[in-house]
Amino acid sequence: MPEKIRNTTSFIRNRLGISPSTPPEVGIVLGSGLGALTERIEVSSTLSYSEIPDFPRSTVEGHKGRFIYGVLGGRRVIAMEGRVHYYEGYPIREVVLPVQAMCDLGIGTLIVSNAAGGLDPRFSAGDMMAIEDHINLIPNPLIGPNDPEAGVRFPDMSEPYDRQLIAQAHRVAETQGAVLHQGVYVGTTGPSYETPAEVRYFRQIGGDAVGMSTTPEVIAARHRGVRIFGLSLITNVLTGTGVKLTHDEVIAAGREATPRMCALVERFVAEL
Ligand code: HPA
Repeated sequence: MPEKIRNTTSFIRNRLGISPSTPPEVGIVLGSGLGALTERIEVSSTLSYSEIPDFPRSTVEGHKGRFIYGVLGGRRVIAMEGRVHYYEGYPIREVVLPVQAMCDLGIGTLIVSNAAGGLDPRFSAGDMMAIEDHINLIPNPLIGPNDPEAGVRFPDMSEPYDRQLIAQAHRVAETQGAVLHQGVYVGTTGPSYETPAEVRYFRQIGGDAVGMSTTPEVIAARHRGVRIFGLSLITNVLTGTGVKLTHDEVIAAGREATPRMCALVERFVAEL
């Protein structure tokens, strides 16, 4: 795996035309709601995942697959338009490979976004939540031999999401008049949505939102010492009383919230 990550990183660096002396400063994983951020990036180059040897590709409808390298808010950024999820059947180490490659390209900060179901009764569909902590119920991506050049065997997880970055996001949200909650994200495998009992359980163990991504990527990036800001779009609320939920509903909420999410992230990047 370490060799595969190194080869993948060099391939991406060469194909995107990234100079090792001026690496991207920020990596962004574009989840539901943030896809349109690509329109705000001054794009220098793009690279389709399908062109990268042995690279995982999303099988989910509505998820594209390419890296975008360019400038956003005056900073050099690399963005992932589309990600793979554990439920698609990839081994967990493959799921985090793209994020590990972005870390090894030299990013100092990673912004991860996702769609999530709201567990906190104060949340409404369309709200945003800064992730303050997580509960990972997906296999840990660091299981297996450790690459000491990447990070330590037993990485600290006492502050997975950078407190200063969360505070900065709140300041930006305030100037934009946007609602930004803060809470704990539960990462679960999916692909089935939660049963009523699971909803009540996730709430009881301290979750404020639940989704099917992000936590493995965050663990992998923290292992490599990268600072993280996580942003959830609450696409639906979960009450634990057996209300039906469809993927279409989740996608529709993402569309509605897109301008607000993109404005927040663009300003956030500019102020880094
Ligand atoms: N559960 C899990 N993942 C999700 C949900 C949900 O309710 N909404 C969006 N992603």
